[in-house]
Amino acid sequence: MGDTQDSLDHEFANYTTCHGASRIANAKNRPHMALWTLVFLAAFGICTWQVVDRIQNYFAYRTGTEINVQLESELTFPAVTICNFNRIRDSATTQNDLAYLGAAFYIPALLDDPETLNEFLQEVDWDGFNASTALLEDFAGYVRQNGFVLDNDSLAECTWRGRKCYADNFTHVFTEYGNCWTFNGDKDSPLKQTSPGAGNGLKLIMDILTDEYTEDPITGNLEYGLVFQVHDQHEPPRPELVGTAVAPGSHTYASTFQTHVINQPTPWGQCDSKKRSLTYYDKYTLPGCLLECRAAIVASVCKCRPMYYPGVLDYCTPLNLTACVLPTLAAFLRESNEFDTCGCTVPCEYTAYSSQVSYAGYPSEKAARFYETVFNYSSGYMSKNVVLLDVYYHELRSTTLEQFKAVDVSGLISDVGGQFGFFIGVSVITFWEFLEYLVMKFSAFFLFSRKPSNSNKKVSNKDVLKVDNAMVFENAAAEVAEKTESTELSTIQTKSNGEKAAVLEMT
Ligand SMILES: *[C@@H]1O[C@H](CO)[C@@H](O)[C@H](O)[C@H]1NC(C)=O
Ligand SMILES: *[C@@H]1O[C@H](CO)[C@@H](O)[C@H](O)[C@H]1NC(C)=O
Ligand SMILES: *[C@@H]1O[C@H](CO)[C@@H](O)[C@H](O)[C@H]1NC(C)=O
Ligand SMILES: *[C@@H]1O[C@H](CO)[C@@H](O)[C@H](O)[C@H]1NC(C)=O
Ligand SMILES: *[C@@H]1O[C@H](CO)[C@@H](O)[C@H](O)[C@H]1NC(C)=O
Repeated sequence: MGDTQDSLDHEFANYTTCHGASRIANAKNRPHMALWTLVFLAAFGICTWQVVDRIQNYFAYRTGTEINVQLESELTFPAVTICNFNRIRDSATTQNDLAYLGAAFYIPALLDDPETLNEFLQEVDWDGFNASTALLEDFAGYVRQNGFVLDNDSLAECTWRGRKCYADNFTHVFTEYGNCWTFNGDKDSPLKQTSPGAGNGLKLIMDILTDEYTEDPITGNLEYGLVFQVHDQHEPPRPELVGTAVAPGSHTYASTFQTHVINQPTPWGQCDSKKRSLTYYDKYTLPGCLLECRAAIVASVCKCRPMYYPGVLDYCTPLNLTACVLPTLAAFLRESNEFDTCGCTVPCEYTAYSSQVSYAGYPSEKAARFYETVFNYSSGYMSKNVVLLDVYYHELRSTTLEQFKAVDVSGLISDVGGQFGFFIGVSVITFWEFLEYLVMKFSAFFLFSRKPSNSNKKVSNKDVLKVDNAMVFENAAAEVAEKTESTELSTIQTKSNGEKAAVLEMT
């Protein structure tokens, strides 16, 4: 029995493509064998160390980022959302309403302390303000009607690529600044800029109507001017977070950059490869997800929705905002991480816009005199009220930031395969050989351990094996010989004979 096992071992050692084994098996003498064993073991050790290292390297999920800059002949123009620091126009409201709103939003100082807030809400005689029913019953409608308005009068001039545009080219959207207006918000056919530089994008001259400002010095905005945001058409604007403020009396140049971002899904990057969808937006975006999440939190507690959140519930009244929405949100943002609680991840692919803003004084004295006659403005009115905003690409170029896996599966395979091949000459086929050898060894073990005394059969078995091998070689040689020239034939035959001899010698 031991004889058969030994012969199997020997045979395996000889034919396996892991040639270290055959070197050991065929060593000329013991020192030679010891040397080969040493070399083989050392190579095997280094190989194991390297393979483990390569596998760890893969499971570190490292990433790299590829930056690609592409010049384009035309570039999709972003949506531009414009808001005013003033939320309600003076001429459209009454002192009663303003007093009511001033009191209703007198809360930043009270937010941290629900008891003081409740006391305050109960102490004030809300009916005593005699506020209009429009304000009390439909705050959103009230803001929409009496808030910042972008019409043909306040939009003194607007051009897109040199062609005139009008108030009708802007669509209304609510944000925390009240009424805002979006240019080029159409998702399906966004405008494209075809030549670079200021004046080839959106250029507008706006009268911000500082006389109409009603912002409360304690509860409202203290600034005057516009806030604008450039954003993807699919993305809801959040100018209170990412807007850029523009002051009147200046020409603002907003040179815009377009960046495509492609992220890897977890565990490599942070994006979620499952295609998430939002309820109120047609495409998943991070701002959309966060807005829906906040809306859901507010809705669950207050049973209403602020006008600047998406949803189907009725709009909140000013007192709902004060008594419930703002404290709820403040507590939520204080106590939990918005990203984790909402489960909002960055999309795997999105377009980001950013702009670099620079200013020049505007208008010059001569221009002021000229415009004052054109627009019939009083002297000095322009520097206090008029904003000139230019949004454009200064270069028609898009940048793609693509995150990629530093080691992907095929990288791992070639890493590991390279170590196995280089150090011990092992391939996938070798593993299969080894498996086959193990199966043969086990089957031989069980076959012969049952009939340990039958040595004759064992020998004949071995002979059969030997003959089988010889036949295989002969057949292979014959097959090859058919396809080769006669000179090669002789070498192959010699080789096959030699190998046959080796097999015979081995057994
Ligand atoms: C409330 O306003 C209405 C009209 O705006 C007026 O008729 C009424 O007298 C006012 N009430 C009080 C208490 O000021
Ligand atoms: C603005 O002016 C344009 C051109 O005169 C006109 O077509 C458009 O209806 C006007 N829009 C408003 C809101 O007045
Ligand atoms: C503005 O709106 C008018 C009418 O809807 C349209 O014909 C025009 O192309 C628009 N201009 C821009 C720049 O979108
Ligand atoms: C919202 O406001 C209305 C009217 O002011 C009030 O009846 C309701 O209780 C308020 N809801 C909450 C949750 O504060
Ligand atoms: C210019 O404005 C003044 C008052 O601000 C007004 O009296 C005058 O009629 C206006 N002129 C034109 C041409 O609109």
